[in-house]
Amino acid sequence: MKKQHLPVLSFFLLIGIVILFMANTSITEKIAASTTTLTTPLTNEIGDEPFDKMMAVLTHKRCVNCHPSGDRPRQGEDSHIHNFEVQRGIDNHGVAALRCESCHQHENNDFSGVPGAPEWSLAPIEMAWEGLSRVEIVQSMLNPANNGGRNLEQIVEHLTEHELVLWAWEPGIDAAGNPREKPPVSKEEYIKAVKEWAESGAIIPEE
Ligand code: HEC
Ligand code: HEC
Repeated sequence: MKKQHLPVLSFFLLIGIVILFMANTSITEKIAASTTTLTTPLTNEIGDEPFDKMMAVLTHKRCVNCHPSGDRPRQGEDSHIHNFEVQRGIDNHGVAALRCESCHQHENNDFSGVPGAPEWSLAPIEMAWEGLSRVEIVQSMLNPANNGGRNLEQIVEHLTEHELVLWAWEPGIDAAGNPREKPPVSKEEYIKAVKEWAESGAIIPEE
């Protein structure tokens, strides 16, 4: 190697070290940032008010997959359109060849991954919650024109006792063998929140 090449070489070496150093710090920062988001507990994002806890459940996919705005149920954690061309049908139990009850039994089938509960069927279209805000869901839920003519007491009963609702905490495993995600609030905490919210006047916040 010729002597006059040495300064040029060490210049490039220096640049290389600087670049390596910069890349390295940005990676460390990224790792630090991603671990902070991962370790933030979910409950921090859910407010402490009974309304917040109740709505964290009602807006969860375990409910909304069955309260879609169209004529097809949704499935899974990504709420994809239900397989096999399953349709709502006139009575919300599917069309002739593909009745919900021909696949969905009264309980989960953890061998085939088909979820189940009594009266498994699609929520009627006026009870569609998909795409609605929290406030819009509750307005619809309390409106007798949309909620099957129920008063507040009957809504509370449905929310805290109906088997299709309580299924969300026993959702079984999917066709790929993975456990379905449960709502982010425990069943006991949710039931308490629904009752507290109703007893204190069923107030719907501004947003
Ligand atoms: C041909 C069989 C079949 C028919 C008919 C059928 N389903 Fe399903 N359904 C399945 C299977 C299998 C799964 C599970 C898929 C998975 O999670 O991997 C499923 C999952 C679902 C889920 C997803 C639950 C969740 O939160 O992930 C909903 C909701 C659902 N079905 C509603 C209905 C409704 C309502 C009907 C009738 C209109 C119906 N299904 C008809 C087989 C069927
Ligand atoms: C397998 C489908 C299915 C699942 C899952 C489901 N629902 Fe429903 N839901 C229905 C059907 C069907 C009706 C209509 C039943 C009726 O009117 O008697 C209904 C009606 C309701 C109603 C009364 C009508 C209204 O809009 O006020 C409420 C409240 C409700 N569901 C809440 C929930 C909540 C909360 C969850 C989740 C924790 C849930 N549902 C999960 C099918 C489902």
